[in-house]
Amino acid sequence: MRKQIAAANWKMNTTFSQAQELLNNILNENIRLTQHQEVIFAVPFPYLITANTMLADTVRFHTSAQNCYSKKSGAFTGEVSVEMLASIGVHYCIVGHSERREYFSESNEVLAQKINLCLEAGITPIFCCGEPLNIREAGTQDTYVEAQLKESLFHLDAAQLSRIVIAYEPIWAIGTGKTATTQQAQDMHAYLRSVLSRQFGDDTADSISILYGGSVKGANAAELFASPDVDGGLVGGASLNAKEFVTIMQALKR
Ligand code: PGA
Repeated sequence: MRKQIAAANWKMNTTFSQAQELLNNILNENIRLTQHQEVIFAVPFPYLITANTMLADTVRFHTSAQNCYSKKSGAFTGEVSVEMLASIGVHYCIVGHSERREYFSESNEVLAQKINLCLEAGITPIFCCGEPLNIREAGTQDTYVEAQLKESLFHLDAAQLSRIVIAYEPIWAIGTGKTATTQQAQDMHAYLRSVLSRQFGDDTADSISILYGGSVKGANAAELFASPDVDGGLVGGASLNAKEFVTIMQALKR
């Protein structure tokens, strides 16, 4: 079975004490994960070391950065390199979240550089893709998202690709309370898997976890995650509520 993942994306939320309380409340539920399941907390940069310490005694719980810079090191004031992340034991990094693409003008080419740096540093990128509303309304979402994959991932070989997690997040569903239907999510995930399969082969495509993101919450997670090609979720708003996120964790396929 592919890895089933519940990933919390806290974005630019919580103070330090709120962050510790939230993580503690989730860990206190003592949820045991099966060997196919994993839980990831993409916390703000300043909290990564503390979160790692808090997760030290857990199994299959990891931290993630929400972003990294597209250059290895140097005079880039205010940026964070993958080398820094790896040096504090961070396992994952979100790459190409739609908010980064929109507010920070991150292109597919820049994201390809970030993917390369993550893989070199031994960090697993969680690569985000997804279409805006006008593309969905025009019915051209398949080719739109396919281009995002091609331009940021198709320079990799199959072994490299197999170290990536993909998150499909339709932009019109992020933070809007408007979730994609289970059928829309399944259709896109199956399509993305077929795109990966053509380029990298069936075995690699079958092994990649593809998460759904966009208004996932406790009430809809089980139905979404039950779809054969949906391998969990990347969760924003609902991940800031311990009870909600625990329900989402428990909705992963076992
Ligand atoms: P949301 O955010 O769950 O608040 O819609 C998802 C995301 O942006 O990753």
